[in-house]
Amino acid sequence: MADVQTPQVSKGLEGIYIDESSICKVDGQAGKLYYRGYPIEAVCKNASYEEVAFLLLNGRLPNKAELDDITKTMAKERDLPDGVIQIIKEMNGKAHPMDTLRSAFSALSAYDKEVTDQSSEANMRKAIRIISKVSSIVAAIGRLQKGQPYIKPDTTLDHVTNFLYMLNGRKPTQLEYNIVKDMFILHAEHSSNASTFGTLVAASTMADMYAAVTAGIATLKGPLHGGADEAALKMMGQIGNPNNTEQYIEDALAGKQKIMGFGHRVYKTYDPRARIVRDYLLQIKDSSSPEVRTYTEIALRAEKLMIDKLGASKGIWPNIDFFAGPIYLAAGVPADLFTPIFAASRSVGWTAHVLEYWQNNRIFRPLEIYTGKVDLQYVPIDKRA
Ligand SMILES: CC(C)(COP(=O)(O)OP(=O)(O)OC[C@H]1O[C@@H](n2cnc3c(N)ncnc32)[C@H](O)[C@@H]1OP(=O)(O)O)[C@@H](O)C(=O)NCCC(=O)NCCS
Repeated sequence: MADVQTPQVSKGLEGIYIDESSICKVDGQAGKLYYRGYPIEAVCKNASYEEVAFLLLNGRLPNKAELDDITKTMAKERDLPDGVIQIIKEMNGKAHPMDTLRSAFSALSAYDKEVTDQSSEANMRKAIRIISKVSSIVAAIGRLQKGQPYIKPDTTLDHVTNFLYMLNGRKPTQLEYNIVKDMFILHAEHSSNASTFGTLVAASTMADMYAAVTAGIATLKGPLHGGADEAALKMMGQIGNPNNTEQYIEDALAGKQKIMGFGHRVYKTYDPRARIVRDYLLQIKDSSSPEVRTYTEIALRAEKLMIDKLGASKGIWPNIDFFAGPIYLAAGVPADLFTPIFAASRSVGWTAHVLEYWQNNRIFRPLEIYTGKVDLQYVPIDKRA
């Protein structure tokens, strides 16, 4: 029970535990991340996205037959209803891809006959269906906004190859595949972050899984959360020339501006995901694209300065979103799709948390300290000043 005599506010719910979970451990002091107990480095090196989806949803690694099964099911579920493609077409060019994703995804509930079936079997099927279709929506948004026709999914391809095929109309190079596959895996889950919490708040009311994931997508959009990757690249664009990097950052910090892609509520040391992504920067720094070379140099110079200034002293280190921009550009992914891809990937974490939370559901209902007045006299409108 809350202490009503001496209530304490924890702004941003800092330090508040909302539940127990066995899905993911973020060790912010040691800079370690575990998916169901497996270190993220090993997961990234060894697993496909489908395997990560199985692991996070089921709590253990699949055997061969189970991996084949989830891979086939995810491939089979990729197709989008015509009505959803129509929504994407209608919003194309008028809205940010995250807004189009939120609306198009929400509409999927109209096409799922199991939407109100809350049995655990139906919920697991819906989770896999959702994970599969969010990526198709994102690829379709990217495709249509380039003015190119929608490409139907190819069920013979793995999830990430199919995503890039639907987006670009061709199979990816090995480097493009590796980058996007690792980003899909690294963004798949991250404990009770804002969007997962948003998802759980909706789920805790026993709204359906589509409603819950729509809340997650909506929450992810902001630049303090998933939108940081696009915002960080925008900043690199404003810096323009690598030689401006240090001055730009010094000025921004002097003006009390936050540098997008740095800092984290939990990590007070180097984000282990950023370390993996940073390795790609070293692979692309001599890219044939001048734009990629410029952004990569800016990112590495900004990283050095920020760590020197704020790393040890304030515990502000690069997070995964800082390095995402240059490597996504190297993989042929445009900036306004960074956050939608994050959403596609995080659909695994969101649905895994919903499945776990529903095993012992309780509606979220926190309190606030009322600071207004009480018992005011109600003045009729013609007597008000
Ligand atoms: C992630 C984030 C929202 C965490 O927020 P938080 O835990 O509430 O931390 P606060 O915003 O209270 O910041 C604490 C202090 O660090 C500073 N700080 C935090 N992130 C900073 C950043 N990216 N650049 C510069 N200073 C930063 C704040 O200004 C504040 O300084 P103060 O104590 O002198 O006022 C925050 O670090 C941030 O906005 N980062 C940029 C957005 C981003 O990259 N988000 C993706 C996270 S994966």
